[in-house]
Amino acid sequence: MSGTAMRASQVNFENAMNQVKLLKTDPGNEVKLKLYALYKQATEGPCNAPKPGVFDFVNKAKWDAWNGLGSLPKETARQNYVDLVSSLSSSESSSQVKPGAESKQGAYEFLVVTSEDGITKIMLNRPAKKNAISTKMYQEIMLALQAAGKDDSALTVLTGNGDYYSSGNDLNNFTDIPPGGVEQKAKDSVILVRDFVSCFIDFPKPLIAVVNGPAVGISVTLLGLFDIVYASDRATFHTPFSHLGQTPEGCSSYTFPKIMGSAKAAEMLIFGKKITAGEACAQGLVTQVFPDSTFQKEVWTRLKAFSKLPPNALRISKEIIRKNEKEKLHATNADECNILQDRILSDECMNAVMGFLSKKAKL
Ligand code: COA
Repeated sequence: MSGTAMRASQVNFENAMNQVKLLKTDPGNEVKLKLYALYKQATEGPCNAPKPGVFDFVNKAKWDAWNGLGSLPKETARQNYVDLVSSLSSSESSSQVKPGAESKQGAYEFLVVTSEDGITKIMLNRPAKKNAISTKMYQEIMLALQAAGKDDSALTVLTGNGDYYSSGNDLNNFTDIPPGGVEQKAKDSVILVRDFVSCFIDFPKPLIAVVNGPAVGISVTLLGLFDIVYASDRATFHTPFSHLGQTPEGCSSYTFPKIMGSAKAAEMLIFGKKITAGEACAQGLVTQVFPDSTFQKEVWTRLKAFSKLPPNALRISKEIIRKNEKEKLHATNADECNILQDRILSDECMNAVMGFLSKKAKL
C-alpha cells in the first residue's frame, strides 16, 4: 500500500473510532466484541495476551473474540472495523429517517431485509449475478443475521431475488489479491467463510430457507444448518467443489452424510452431482417442494401461521434440538476451512477459477 493510501486508511479508522462514540443505540454485546477484536487486531496485530481464566467471563469473551481473528492482517482488520462502524451508523441513520419502518434496506447494498408478521426476511439481492455471494455480501449477511437474532421476530427467512436462490461464492472473490499476496488472500477468505458459517451454527431462532430457484455451492451446503428448507420445483442443488478443485464447506462434510447417508452425500459433495428439488426432498435435505406457480403464496401462508406460535418456545425448542451438536459443527467448520485454505492455493482451484472468469471475458 502506498504512503498516501495508508494515511487515508488511518484517517478513516480514526473517524470510525469517533463515530462509535456517537452511536445512539447500543449495538449489543456480539457487535461490541467484534469491534473490540477488530480494534485490537488493527492496532496490536494477532492476539498476544495470556488467555484469561474460564470464570473471568468478560475478559475471556474479549480474548476469544480477538484470538478468533487469527492472523488477520492489521490493514484488513482496520478496514473491517471501518466497514462495521459505517454499517452501524447507516442502519442508525436510516432508522432515524423512518422511525418504526419495517424495511432495513438502507443498511445493505446487496440485501433487502424486512420484518413483518413476526418474520424477518433476508433476501439476497444481486439477481443479475444470480445472487453470487461477494465478500461484501458475506459481511452484510452476517450483520443481517446478527440483527435478526436479536430482533423481536419469531422466525428468520433467507431467500433470493430473481430466478436463482444463489450461485454460491462469487468466483471473483478469488481475484482481488491484497498486498500480502495469494497466501494472504486464501487466509482472509477462509476466515470470512468460517465466521460466516459460525453465524448459521449459532443462529438462535428458527431459520428457514425459501429456495426460490437453483442453488449452488455454499448456498447448498449451508442448508444442513437450517431448521426448515422449502423449495420451488424449479430449484436444483449443485455443489461442484471437485470441478473447482475445492472441498466442501458449510459443515456439509458432517451434515450431509447425517441427513442423506454417506453414499448420496458422496455423489453430491465429491462428484458434484446436481439434484432436483424432488430428489433433495427425498434425501431429506429439503422439507417440502411446492410448484413454482404457487410457491410464494403457499410458503408464506404457512410461515405466517408458524410465526404466531410463542417465540420463546420456538427458540428454546430449536436450542434443545441443536445444542448437542454445536461443538461438533464448530469443529467441522474449522477443519473444513483449514483444508479449503490449501485448496484455494492449489493449481486445480486456480485453473478452474481462471477458466470460469476467462470464459466470461471471451463472451
Ligand atoms: N461467481 C461470479 N460470478 C457469477 C457467479 C459466481 N458464482 N454466478 C454467476 N455469475 C455471474 C456470471 O459471470 C454472469 O456475469 P456477467 O453477466 O457479468 O457475464 C452473471 O452472473 C449471469 O450468469 P450466467 O453465467 O450468464 O448465467 P447462466 O444462467 O448461463 O449460468 C450459473 C448460471 C450459475 C450456472 C453459472 O453462472 C455458473 O456456473 N456460475 C458459477 C457457479 C459456481 O461455480 N459457484 C461456486 C460454487 S463452489
